[in-house]
Amino acid sequence: MLILGIESSCDETAVAVVERGEKNAVLAEKIKSQISLHSPYGGIVPEIAARTHYEVIDLLTRQALTQAGIGIERINLLALTVGPGLIGSLLIGLAFAKGLALAQRLPLVAIDHIAAHIEAPFITQAQIAYPLLALVVSGGHTSLFYQKEKFSGQMVAKTRDDAAGEIMDKVAKHFDLGYPGGPLLDALYAKGDPGRFAFTMPRMSDGGDDFSFSGYKSALLRQAKSLKVEPGSRDFFDLLASFLRSLVDYLLNKTMAALEKFPARSLIVSGGVSRNSLLRSRFTQECGALGINLFLPEPAYCTDNAAMIAWLGYEKYLAYPNLNYYDLYLNSYSRASFRERRRHR
Ligand code: KG4
Ligand code: ZN
Repeated sequence: MLILGIESSCDETAVAVVERGEKNAVLAEKIKSQISLHSPYGGIVPEIAARTHYEVIDLLTRQALTQAGIGIERINLLALTVGPGLIGSLLIGLAFAKGLALAQRLPLVAIDHIAAHIEAPFITQAQIAYPLLALVVSGGHTSLFYQKEKFSGQMVAKTRDDAAGEIMDKVAKHFDLGYPGGPLLDALYAKGDPGRFAFTMPRMSDGGDDFSFSGYKSALLRQAKSLKVEPGSRDFFDLLASFLRSLVDYLLNKTMAALEKFPARSLIVSGGVSRNSLLRSRFTQECGALGINLFLPEPAYCTDNAAMIAWLGYEKYLAYPNLNYYDLYLNSYSRASFRERRRHR
């Protein structure tokens, strides 16, 4: 079966063609990143994001089909991100996918973006055993999910303020380093001494298991101010390296604590921040020592992409054969409200 996946929830327009069934492979993926457009603002401007999706989505679709070496008539199934994300961006993908579905008489599978991030490591590693615990850590989300099987799961922790990637983006913006901050901090890490400054890991006053990151940023900015840190100085690199090290250790500690409460056969760490070199090596090291089966997506499938949407689209189509995949009243949702997300599972 050939599936065309479409992703437009944030600042990347992505279209992928995947083959599933006897053969399982990503045949093509075209991604138009909008980083250069949002970079001057130090963050995503929703109107620019939506307009750019509109400008490139049909061209990317043609290019993805050409790369896969097929025409649209060979596609059997469409899969689309319907949320959560920026509503303007999501609606461009929705209108485009509905038009394509109608014109080609194709079934259209609605996919939840976070569920697709959890699916990402399955693209290259088929043997991931359930139950699993998944840490989804990106620019929009930092949550832990426990899944007894695919499409059934519970969120066991979430961030109460910013997401981990968002904090890195804000820190980079503060120091005028550019956007997005995650890859920039990743590259600067080797220049500093991560043991030089200490950061206190946040604890919820109500004893809950949720994450909180905003205190991290305040602590970093306080330190930078009191030391009068100049960008490019020794103090600057040491401070950023210590900050990143502590943030990664916080994610690691919380994940290990969740594994004690929710014993799982596999651990998945996915989302844009799972591309971070330090995070990948710290989790790999710790899981190796403790005998935990860790699955990280290939770097290209950590950040937003359409292959993960198409991959999960196929799984959902098989798992729920009785859903109406020709529903032109299908809608997008910006927030991961429980009720809305359940409708799409
Ligand atoms: O998954 P994603 O592409 O979009 C969302 O669903 O949010 O994640 C984007 C986030 C950004 O905050 C970016 O700074 C972060 O992922 N990111 C990284 C790295 N690459 C991207 N964070 C740390 N290290 C990286 N190498
Ligand atoms: Zn994402």
